[in-house]
Amino acid sequence: MAFLSSLFKKESSVLGIDIGSSAVKVVQIRKKRGKAVLETYGELALGPYGGVEIGRAVSLPPEKITEAVVDILRESKTTTKICGAALPLSASLITFISIPPVPDKQVSDVVSIEARKYIPVPLNEVLLDYSIIPREENYAVDDGSPAKPTAQGKEVLVVAIHNDFINQYQSIMANSMLQPSFYEIEIFSSIRSVIDQGVATSMVIDMGARSTKLYIVERGMLRSSHIINKGSQDITLSLSKALSISVGEAETMKRTYGLKGGPEYKELTEIITVNLDYMFYEANATLLNYQKKYNKNVNRIILTGGGVLLKGFTDLAKISFQTEVIYADPFGKLETPAFLSQEFAEAGPEFAVAIGTALRRLSELP
Ligand SMILES: Nc1ncnc2c1ncn2[C@@H]1O[C@H](COP(=O)(O)OP(=O)(O)OP(=O)(O)O)[C@@H](O)[C@H]1O
Ligand SMILES: [Mg+2]
Repeated sequence: MAFLSSLFKKESSVLGIDIGSSAVKVVQIRKKRGKAVLETYGELALGPYGGVEIGRAVSLPPEKITEAVVDILRESKTTTKICGAALPLSASLITFISIPPVPDKQVSDVVSIEARKYIPVPLNEVLLDYSIIPREENYAVDDGSPAKPTAQGKEVLVVAIHNDFINQYQSIMANSMLQPSFYEIEIFSSIRSVIDQGVATSMVIDMGARSTKLYIVERGMLRSSHIINKGSQDITLSLSKALSISVGEAETMKRTYGLKGGPEYKELTEIITVNLDYMFYEANATLLNYQKKYNKNVNRIILTGGGVLLKGFTDLAKISFQTEVIYADPFGKLETPAFLSQEFAEAGPEFAVAIGTALRRLSELP
């Protein structure tokens, strides 16, 4: 019987993998009585695999990424190969298109034809995915506003990823002995882990090392996305230059004092503020643009990514945005040991993508 039970034992642990430009993150969760329970998680800086400082973005060959993935799986003592993996937003092309009112079974063909106009490479070179945005009048929410006239046709979210990119990820995963059942663009992972279903419209800001991703989510659906080609490493690099210190020292200063260094660190505060002001200006422009286009308010800003961990970040963000600003709490979607709650609150923004990916993989289990 023991043999039989082990033969039929259900594998119930899964991994979420997020390979960022500066660090790889993994999360292992398990299903227990309908809940997602955290088993282990870990993060590893990629810089040292390419001879650059921790905290900096690095472009590594697939073998080096594989090495890092294998290392972090070992260090975090993961025990399963079943996983889902996130792909960077920068590897994708996301567009919203309108298609004429056609029967459901023709939607796929019509989307392919329309998408051709927006995708600059032949369609056989990309993986194309799409989802239809539910119409406003179909939302099961009555916000008191007058009914809008029925739109003609359908609005469709189209995501294209170049095959070369997916092939590269496939080889990294296979060489790391991982078995992903899907690849998804990182922002869809975060939406799952940081947004509560509800009527509020949120803007997520993901400040990574290389870039800052901005996206607007309405009733769980992505409505707009934008990349700023500046990330937290740019703060470090400007500190290093302006203060004539090494990149390593600048990174340490950024993380130790952030905006809270006081009068002694006036210059540090100023340089960080200038950098953040630029990002917030861009983010505000994206937000205002959206509000104007759809005549809707964005009710909340949710902060993710390692860059938002900077001390004093939220205080400055609150001044810059005329709306509520909160830290993402993706560990809140998991059952975690209570005595570590402070640690999870602090690590949350960095693990939003990995947790969201793991949650999707968990939901696919029988
Ligand atoms: N406590 C901290 N204070 C300030 N900055 C921090 C802190 N912790 C991490 N960072 C910065 O966050 C960045 C890494 O964030 P994250 O891990 O989200 O990036 P990534 O996912 O690798 O990058 P990307 O999303 O751009 O590909 C680094 O540039 C690092 O310097
Ligand atoms: Mg990232």
